[in-house]
Amino acid sequence: MTVVFLTLLIIVAFLILWQLVIRIVRSYAKFPAPAFISTFLDSDFRKMQQPPAKVIACSGIKPGMKVLEIGCGSGAFTIEAARAVGQQGKVYALDIQEDMLDKLRTKLARPGNSDIQNIEIINRSAYELPLEDNSLDLAFMVTVLQEIPDKQRALAQIKRVLKPAGILAVSELLPDPDYPWRSTTQRMLSKAGLIFEASYGNLWSYTVRFRKP
Ligand SMILES: C[S@@+](CC[C@H](N)C(=O)[O-])C[C@H]1O[C@@H](n2cnc3c(N)ncnc32)[C@H](O)[C@@H]1O
Repeated sequence: MTVVFLTLLIIVAFLILWQLVIRIVRSYAKFPAPAFISTFLDSDFRKMQQPPAKVIACSGIKPGMKVLEIGCGSGAFTIEAARAVGQQGKVYALDIQEDMLDKLRTKLARPGNSDIQNIEIINRSAYELPLEDNSLDLAFMVTVLQEIPDKQRALAQIKRVLKPAGILAVSELLPDPDYPWRSTTQRMLSKAGLIFEASYGNLWSYTVRFRKP
């Protein structure tokens, strides 16, 4: 019993220390999450904390929509989004790191995903979205916004490509070393001129949804 308790205590202490160290490092140096963390991003543990189907539903993704995922990474939510919009819809999966996008390509090449033909992969920064003004129904990002140094610049681009009344959904998860309070995320989105629509989840894992005026 004592051994189990001590082991748990050591694991919790290690996780807290890890969070502190990473947060201090990241407050000085902003860099995209390295591709090797896709092992965590795609893990069952992560899926339990932030179930893809729930994130997609809370984001407001519906059949037929034209959707942009900013910072899709290895695609933990991209495939679910592609299935949710269906063949009449489309998902633009954008990330700044080719290594991450390669992991998404590998997933899409699996036999179980051969039905998915509606994802377009784009290797670009959120600062320079290669998409037409007022062309998308919805944009979403999961554990990404805080990684982008100039958030308002990225949000202005997202607002540009959304149709009037188009949705931007932002989801965050506490173990992410960049995790912001929900109120911080909401303030940023309001500052970008977006209008609050809905908020879901709890302190550990949440999604907020805003709308372009
Ligand atoms: C923590 S990962 C999350 C990946 C994925 N959204 C998920 O939840 O599994 C953050 C992702 O954002 C991407 N990213 C960071 N800065 C970016 C930028 N300026 N433009 C586009 N993608 C960016 C990183 O390359 C990385 O893949």
